[in-house]
Order: sequence, then C-alpha cells, then structure tokens
Amino acid sequence: MAFLTLVAADAAERTPVRISTDETDLILTIAPDGRLQQAYFGKRLANEADLAHLPYYNVQGSGAGGNAKSWEVYPGSGAQDYFEPAVAITHNDGNMTTVLAFVSSETKKIDGNVTETVLRLKDSVYPIEVALHYVAYGKENIIKTWSEILHREKKPVTIWRYASNMLYFESASYFLTEFSGDWANEVKMSSQELQFGKKIIETKLGSRAAMHAHPFFELGLDGIPEEDEGEVLMGTIGWTGNFQFTFEIDNNGDLRVLSGINPYASAYELKAGEVFRTPEFIFTLSYCGKGKASRDIHAWAREYRLKDGKGDRLTLLNNWEATGFNFDEAKLEGLMKEAKTLGVDMFLLDDGWFANKYPRANDRAGLGDWDATRNKLPGGVPHLVQAAKEAGVKFGIWIEPEMVNPKSELFEQHPDWVIRQPNRETYYFRNQLVLDLANPKVQNYVFGVVDNLMKENPDLAYFKWDCNSPITNIYSPYLKEKQNQLYIDHVRGVYNVFERVRERYPDLPMMLCSGGGARCDYEALKYFTEFWCSDNTDPVERLYIQWGFSQFFPTKSMAAHVTSWNKNTSIKFRTDVAMMCKLGFDISLKDMNEKELSYCKLAVANYNRLKDVILNGDFYRLVSPYETNHTVAMHVSGSKEKALLYVYDINPRYNEKLLPVKLQGLDASKTYKIEEINLTEGSRSRIGGNGKRFTGDYLMKMGLNVLTTNQTQSRIIELTQE
Ligand code: DGJ
Repeated sequence: MAFLTLVAADAAERTPVRISTDETDLILTIAPDGRLQQAYFGKRLANEADLAHLPYYNVQGSGAGGNAKSWEVYPGSGAQDYFEPAVAITHNDGNMTTVLAFVSSETKKIDGNVTETVLRLKDSVYPIEVALHYVAYGKENIIKTWSEILHREKKPVTIWRYASNMLYFESASYFLTEFSGDWANEVKMSSQELQFGKKIIETKLGSRAAMHAHPFFELGLDGIPEEDEGEVLMGTIGWTGNFQFTFEIDNNGDLRVLSGINPYASAYELKAGEVFRTPEFIFTLSYCGKGKASRDIHAWAREYRLKDGKGDRLTLLNNWEATGFNFDEAKLEGLMKEAKTLGVDMFLLDDGWFANKYPRANDRAGLGDWDATRNKLPGGVPHLVQAAKEAGVKFGIWIEPEMVNPKSELFEQHPDWVIRQPNRETYYFRNQLVLDLANPKVQNYVFGVVDNLMKENPDLAYFKWDCNSPITNIYSPYLKEKQNQLYIDHVRGVYNVFERVRERYPDLPMMLCSGGGARCDYEALKYFTEFWCSDNTDPVERLYIQWGFSQFFPTKSMAAHVTSWNKNTSIKFRTDVAMMCKLGFDISLKDMNEKELSYCKLAVANYNRLKDVILNGDFYRLVSPYETNHTVAMHVSGSKEKALLYVYDINPRYNEKLLPVKLQGLDASKTYKIEEINLTEGSRSRIGGNGKRFTGDYLMKMGLNVLTTNQTQSRIIELTQE
C-alpha cells in the first residue's frame, strides 16, 4: 500500500490534534495507516496526558461480519467506508476513488480568544490535496470549519461531493430539530428521533434558497433538544444557496453529520491548481440545552460575524404594508412626517419607486430599471432624501437588484444576462427571473445598482435588499456547456457583489430580505446588519417565528415591524412583540387613534432608552409558545445591571393554572427593582410586585407571577439592579 510508506507517521507525528474552546474539545487522531480520525468530541478534557488513551478505529474490520468502524474526519469515496463520503472526485483516468491520509497540521493563535488549526491531507495515488480549517472561539464555545480541495492532475477533475465538515456521535439515540417553512410561515420547529439510514435536510431553490428549509439544525443526544438541559449540537451553514445536511446512522448505530453545499446538479469541474473552498459550517456543543447554545452563537455573531455586530440599529417606518405600490411624493412626505412623530430614526421606502418605460406599478414590471419613476416621483430619489431630512428622519430604500421582470428595459437590452431556458417555455415565480450572477458583467451591473444610488444620494442611510424568486429555469447563458456549475457560481457571484458593496460602503446598514425570511445564513449576514424574518407580522405568528429564528440569531439582527396584520390584537400587543427584536413600524398613523399613537410613541421612547440591553443583552427563552399558551423571554445586559422581561399571553384556557415564571441570567446576590413599562394611557400595572425590590436569587428561584388568562395580552417589565 503505497500511501502507508508515504505517510506513515512516527509516534511523535501522530500526536492528537486538539481543537479546543473553553468548554469543548474536538480531538483528531492519526491512525497507523495515516487516516485522520475523530477520536473525541465533547466536554473539554482536564488532563492533556489523557489524550494518549484516545482510540483510533481499525477501519479494516475483523473479517466477515467484523464491525468495521471508521470515524474518518474527511472520508473520500469508493474505498473502505460505505456511507456518505465527505469528498468524491472523478480523476482524469475515470477512477472515482479518493483516499486521504494525514500530512501535517499547524495551529496558531489569532488572539487571546481565537485559535486556527489547519490539517493537510493528501491522496498518495492521485495528486489531490485537502486542507481542513478549524477556527475555535474560546469564550463563545464556537467552532467554525471549512475545507479546501486542490489537485494537480493534468486536466480538470470533477468533484461531486465537497462537504464542509463531518462529525460523528456515539449515543443511545439521536433527536433532530429542523426548521422548515414557506412564505409567511417561516422557521417552523419540529423534532423527530433519527433511525438507521439517512435523513436529509436540503434545498434546491438556488437564490431564494431557504424558503422551505432553513440552513440550521439542532441535534439532541439521548433526547429531544431541550431549552435548559441536555447535550445539544447546534449547527448552521454559511451558504446563501443550495445547502445540504445529511444525518446518517450507520451499521454501528453511530451518527454521522455531514454539512455542505447541496451537490444536486452541481458536479463541479475543478482546474489544476484552483482551490475549491467550501462554505463555513459553524457549530457549538452545549451541555445544558439549547438556550446556552443560542446565547453563545448570538455572542459570536455580534462579536465576529454580523455587519456592525456590536453597533446600534435604526428604528424605522416602512411603507410596504401601508401603501403597497400605491404612493406618490406627497404620500411619502406625509409618512416621513409620521416617522418623525413616532420618534423612529428613519423612513424606509419599499418596492414600487422605479422604472419608466415599464413603471413598477405592480409586481409584473420594472424590476431591473433602477431609475425613479418620473411621473410618480418627479424629484427622484434626491428629492425624497431631502424631504426626509426636512422631516427630521433618515431615508432608506428598497432594492431587488438580482432580479428582472421580462417587462423591463434591462431585459430588452440584455436578454443574455438572465437565467432561463434557451429551448423551453419559461417558468416565472412572481413574474420575474433571476439574473445570471455567474457572469462578471452582471455582477458589475448589480453592484452598480447600489453604487449609482449612493453616488447620486450620499445621504442614503439604509438599504433593504430583497430577493423574491428562486432560480426557476436552470440555464446560465454565461456558463454555456458548464451548466453544472450554475448553482455554485451563482452564489459566488452574489458574494462578489456583497463584498464589493461592503468594501465601498462599510458603514451602510442593510437589511437582508427574501420574500420574508428565505435568506438567513451567516455568510450573507457578514454583509447585512439585520434580516427580515417574515412578511407575516401577525403578532401571534411572530412569537413563533421570533422564537424559531432566535435559536440561531441575535434579536438585534431580526427585523420586526408593527403592522395591521391581525387587527384583532391591540397595538400594544403588536408593538410589544416587535419590541424584543429590531423594532420598526409598517403602518400609517392614520390607522391608529390618539391613544394608540401615544402608546407607540411611548414604546419607541422606551426602546431608545433601553436599546443597549435589547440589542446587546443576553437572550433567555423562558416560556415557549410551542409548549404553552404563552411566551416569555428576557434580555439581560452583560453587566447584569439591567434586564427586560417580555411576557405574552396568547390563547390561555379558562381557569388555566398559571405558574410563576422563573427568571434567568440575573446576579443572584443583587437586588432588582421591578417596574412594568409600556403601559397604555390611563392603565396601571397589575403585576404583583410591581415597584417592589427582589433579589436576583429570589427572582430566579421563586419567580414572578406575570402570566394571565387573557387572550393576546402583553407586559414588558424592566428590572434595574440597585
Ligand atoms: C417581499 C418582502 O418580504 C416585503 O417586505 C416587501 O419588500 C415586498 N417583497 C416588496 O415587493
């Protein structure tokens, strides 16, 4: 076996590779045959010397019926492993096997908190090299990983599996929580026990990629993932296109979790010397439930990932729900004044402001022509920016630059810039088509949409970047005979544009939107300060949606607007639901009476006063809408000096037994003053204990009686340490 002589490492070289956060160890060992194996993944080991006891597995098995066990970190196809491979390549001679052996590893400290480890592997028969990257964030207990594949064969090879990462678990049972959805119905959580064989979560939608399945999961070892107890893996992939998670239970009852780009219709041709870099898989292992895991991911995202993760966020008034496409300058100017009256920072102009030959009067025309419609908005965008300035608010604008309506000048001029079938009938989603972002000329054009608006209007304060269509007609005129690269090159083209926008406008806040929440991954969120969770703004539905997204995203990145959806609920309830996220309004003040308006103004003032704890505090989910008729959550500031408790009664039963809610995250030794805020005019708090003082210890052990049996009622309670 040639590779054995090539890579046979002596004992010293076979020192286990330890990837550690403050709480977790992922330890990889090198077996005598040179294969890199996962030896341990769990709570951080206390004694370095114990690493010597870690096993490596004999992949050969023990003859007929032998229990061959392979926990190879990055298994190639067609050799000794009979399950889903991490990498599969068709070589120049047609051979489809790849066997990777360890070559070297290096670990470097990026700073006091972050360590990067790179492991290099190679095939001894074919000139294939793979680098596995692991970045460990100590304090946040997060590991980020990706792979790089490279070859030096004469002609291009075809790679048809290219996982970002593979993890193994040995447990008596495994439970998966997945997040599925559709328009206005995002992020529905459901759990199931995994059985022998495969369970796959994936998308093939291309651009509006997360419309049916969101790119994250929770895995409970020995039980359904719980909020405050149990071992839970939480993982998410940073890829704004087709992704795939494979959960495979093998012959030994071990679970393999494979994460990466969905290889569907994407056998990729890789040239010699070119590096294929996979997206990042970001994960954390919690030993006390998913609440802790969520807080760790939130802290990581604020510190290392979101655009302006630690910065402020702008409150706003949006016009989509209030006007749809039906507006003119006077109407918008009226709304800008309403924004000022409400006390929010900005007015956000939504869809319907552009195109002249085929004006955007509805969703059937205009996408692609990004000049203001002259007969609707004679002063163009500059006039609106000026009008907002005069009203005393900032001005933000909606775009959907990756798309085109066939009724547009762009389509007439550049039909070859559009993904569509050359020889079949075209299929439309929302009357539009996706631009061919694999084409650098199209990338320039899309970048130009933002750049031109900014050049014309340097005071533009915000963009909402929408994406309403999946890729519907899988043919890229640019890629010609390489159609199998469409899905991947398209997403890379999108990133190229995002990158250029961020580079040119590093301080420009932007909302990621995809017909609601169909784009919600941590690669895109490098370039966006927040994302739109759903067009469904019914506050009852939003409680579920916010509960779901908060599993992976900090509430400051989740845009939540007060609208007229479910007018059966009070404006207080609707506002209080949006208060726990990034607050905005999408409602005309004309739809409110004076009392309602004064309530909203009070809520905005409170939001501004408490922004630091709302935007940057640790988030605790206390009472789940999935398990009860209520929802309760809280934010606690880093110093624990301030906390906010959000309480919602959804649909309680008559005479339902109400239990006190035990708070979390407070300083047990300190005293907190309890004060209900966001009270409607003339009402007083009915919470027992309002205005009183309690120790953190008491509040966390005994709790507060804050629930009621009323339908759709809410209370926001401020806790101040004394
Ligand atoms: C879908 C978005 O989710 C909405 O908020 C709105 O911007 C519309 N698109 C506009 O077409």
